[in-house]
Amino acid sequence: MQDLMNTKIHDETRQGEAFAPAAAVTAAYRKKFYIESYGCQMNFADSEIVAAILNESGFGATRNVEDADLILLNTCSIREKAEQTVRKRLTEFRKIKLVKPGMLVGVLGCMAERLKAKFLEEEKLVDLVVGPDAYRTLPDLVEEAEGGHKAVNVLLSREETYADISPVRLNSNGVSAFVSIMRGCNNMCSFCVVPFTRGRERSRDTPSIVRECTDLFNSGYREVTLLGQNVDSYYWVDESLPATDSRRTITFALLLESVAAISPLLRVRFSTSHPKDITDEVLHTIARHKNICNYIHLPVQSGSTRVLQLMNRTYTREWYMARIDRIRELIPGCGISSDIIAGFCTETEEDHQDTLSLMEYSQYDYGYMFFYSERPGTLAARRYQDDIPLDVKKRRLQEIVDMQYRLSLESNRQDIGKTVEVLIEGDSKKSDQDWMGRSSENKVIVFPKAGFDFKKGDYATVRVTDCNKATLMGKVKEE
Ligand code: SAH
Ligand code: SF4
Ligand code: F3S
Repeated sequence: MQDLMNTKIHDETRQGEAFAPAAAVTAAYRKKFYIESYGCQMNFADSEIVAAILNESGFGATRNVEDADLILLNTCSIREKAEQTVRKRLTEFRKIKLVKPGMLVGVLGCMAERLKAKFLEEEKLVDLVVGPDAYRTLPDLVEEAEGGHKAVNVLLSREETYADISPVRLNSNGVSAFVSIMRGCNNMCSFCVVPFTRGRERSRDTPSIVRECTDLFNSGYREVTLLGQNVDSYYWVDESLPATDSRRTITFALLLESVAAISPLLRVRFSTSHPKDITDEVLHTIARHKNICNYIHLPVQSGSTRVLQLMNRTYTREWYMARIDRIRELIPGCGISSDIIAGFCTETEEDHQDTLSLMEYSQYDYGYMFFYSERPGTLAARRYQDDIPLDVKKRRLQEIVDMQYRLSLESNRQDIGKTVEVLIEGDSKKSDQDWMGRSSENKVIVFPKAGFDFKKGDYATVRVTDCNKATLMGKVKEE
């Protein structure tokens, strides 16, 4: 999962804050909630489900924390720093609560699930603790808390997918949206807390996904990103069809096809693919459909087979390289990015060199890079010693980051002179005289508006004229 920005480094790279648009508050709502989201795209997508549930029960969104009757933090536990950020934020809310004692503070998401009721002991100002599978009970829990009782629901579910809930799009650019297609994770990567905070993997039914994407397209969206911790294991059986019907079982490749069929003007992206599970069928499907973007986020984590084994990733360095070869063969020019962890337990300099050389082999367009942060309860925390000193972890991470910067710049330089199709997402950050959009390969490209009549959500054919390591610069190609 990532926020699809170009090369980012260190910790909490995928974090940001999701604010609900003030316009959503109307007289129809009796109270106001304020929500901030941390962590991966799935957490951001969940906040949009929470917003829908709260709207139904009379809470409208506000962007102003001081106006809120209910403050919600949708939290992340992936690294220690992610949790520290949340705790710091809670300290700030304490000040608001001092002057507004009736205001409720709720903690949602992965940290709520990890710490459960312990949260209430540790952070006295918290009134509600709600895990990722319990959002439907939020209105009842809020009522309980309004009555002066602390409220907790951290039950995980084997079925919950919130399939029937239409998310309320928060802070959206109106062009691209995230759509959750599954929840939980059945892999047990030894460093990872997600299986504990998100529970068992389950796939959402195909018709509700296609419906949500169609609705998005009809309301002007031009790009959907299908989200899951391991999208390649998407699996849904249409029980309404006879056992002999070949359309009964929907794999990820078939789901991609169904979403791509909505309109050639709707771009389809997805995240995250697991190297052990991404199939040739998926690669062929991407190659066959112009509107399925030529971009794969394929986290490697480490380039050393020995470390990969300790991480329980279930593939080797050679297996990963063979997947990269296959992608390059079936989808020439495909954008590829990765996640990398520096300084996992027992990692030697040689293992680290293996990571650097694998990065070079893979020629990543960009990467999300972290140093290892031990998470309580994970397999690694129980089995291995977190034995790499922090300064060594940081030095290795810096070498990984330097390597990625070089690869990103090289990759962008190779695009100069090429023509790319860009979906316009809005004004460039630096100037409202320029548009910003992305290529199919997920590269950010900026180009002048002048002389052309484009608007947000349009496709423009742009010739790349210049670049830095994070962005391509171009000019609209005249016919
Ligand atoms: N499901 C996705 C990743 C989800 S977490 C996948 O399998 O790739 C996002 C990234 O955070 C991971 O890919 C990993 O690189 C990083 N990460 C997870 N646990 C971590 C830990 N304990 N310390 C440092 N980085 C971690
Ligand atoms: Fe974590 Fe591994 Fe699952 Fe990704 S696949 S969420 S890294 S356990
Ligand atoms: Fe996502 Fe963080 Fe949870 S990365 S699944 S919000 S631990």
